[in-house]
Amino acid sequence: MRTIVALPGDGIGKVVLPEAIRLLNAAGFIAEYVWGDIGWEFWRNEGNPLPQRTIDLIEKHKIALFGAITSKPKDKAAEELKPELRDKGYVYFSPIVALRQHFNLDICIRPCISFKGNPLNFIRKKIDGSYEEPFVNAVIFRQNTEGLYAGVEWTNPPEVVRKALETHPKMKAFANVPGEELAISTRIVTKKASERIIRSAFEYARKYNYKSVTLCEKPNVLRETSGMMLKIAREISKEYPEIQLWDTNIDAQMMWLTKNPEDYGVIVAENMFGDIISDGFAGLIGGLGFACSANIGEEVAVFEPTHGSAPKYEKLKPSIVNPIAMFMSAIMMLEHIGENDIADKIKKAIAKVIEEGKVRTYDMLKLKGGPDVIELGAATTQQMTDAVISKL
Ligand code: NAI
Ligand code: MG
Repeated sequence: MRTIVALPGDGIGKVVLPEAIRLLNAAGFIAEYVWGDIGWEFWRNEGNPLPQRTIDLIEKHKIALFGAITSKPKDKAAEELKPELRDKGYVYFSPIVALRQHFNLDICIRPCISFKGNPLNFIRKKIDGSYEEPFVNAVIFRQNTEGLYAGVEWTNPPEVVRKALETHPKMKAFANVPGEELAISTRIVTKKASERIIRSAFEYARKYNYKSVTLCEKPNVLRETSGMMLKIAREISKEYPEIQLWDTNIDAQMMWLTKNPEDYGVIVAENMFGDIISDGFAGLIGGLGFACSANIGEEVAVFEPTHGSAPKYEKLKPSIVNPIAMFMSAIMMLEHIGENDIADKIKKAIAKVIEEGKVRTYDMLKLKGGPDVIELGAATTQQMTDAVISKL
């Protein structure tokens, strides 16, 4: 029997992950779940939001389903640490970013594929009616470990960095900006990681018959980093003659995806740009309640909804958040391990519930979340799971 590491994390992560497991069980996926500690509670009580025992579990079993974590700025986090752990030198870090880096989960896949009948679909804005389903069918490949989110940054950079600035004609002026008045975040791109993410995007496009791969960067301004990615994309695209390589700039891409989202298939980008584009597309398919993702490394893979812990809904009973993003992430896990039949079965059940439109969580009704949404006709999280299970 397969073992899956279940990492609920914080807030609504603790709600949607058990619901996904309930659905997986009902769909006939046979697995054992081992629960791993991650998130705020472990920061507060142990000074470590990602304890070594959790890393060991993932190392052992290779596949994890993750809910969401709460992340807070360093100073706020330090205040919340248990009193006896303060002044012991613990520094808060985001455990999901740490997981991606520890296991080198460098490939992040975020499919944004619209379901027929989702009232929040971008489809409602297209008045000509002559679209094919799914109207939005974009899959974003986000480089997950480098770029601007690599975490290589300083306020008051060390002398060695200032010295490096001095050697560069354009950067010289910054070298002497005094102490805390200078902050630097670096955008690091390597050839190896760029090749891996771009090749994965092309392989995916080939496997699932997408006609284009769009590299979304900004090479006219970010000449070195985006420039390197574009060069690599052009080289790799030669091996995939049946797929067109398009390149767009991140700013223009945000305009195009709003105007003509149906044009795009597979999109590949650096960490931050991929984060931005995938949120843009997520909005077009109904929002964070629908946005799923996979973090894939050479050995380990972690599947998680794109959304965070939504703390304002954490204590709401019954829960009202949409579990579909978590379900879709579980489907990605099933596809990754070759359980395609069960994945298809669940996907079809979700599609039926959405198209039928009888059971909708508050976000699908365009309501502001709060305890009164149930009176206004919104389904609870559990009711959504039940509805999907009933269609299996
Ligand atoms: P969030 O994604 O937690 O929530 C933003 C808003 O989106 C919510 O208030 C809610 O209106 C809506 N939403 C999110 N998930 C939903 C769902 N399943 N169904 C219906 N509506 C949903 O982002 P926010 O508020 O910026 O961050 C909250 C915490 O989560 C922060 O501590 C942040 O650092 C963390 N976070 C963690 C992530 C992760 O675990 N990968 C990703 C993003 C944020
Ligand atoms: Mg994001």
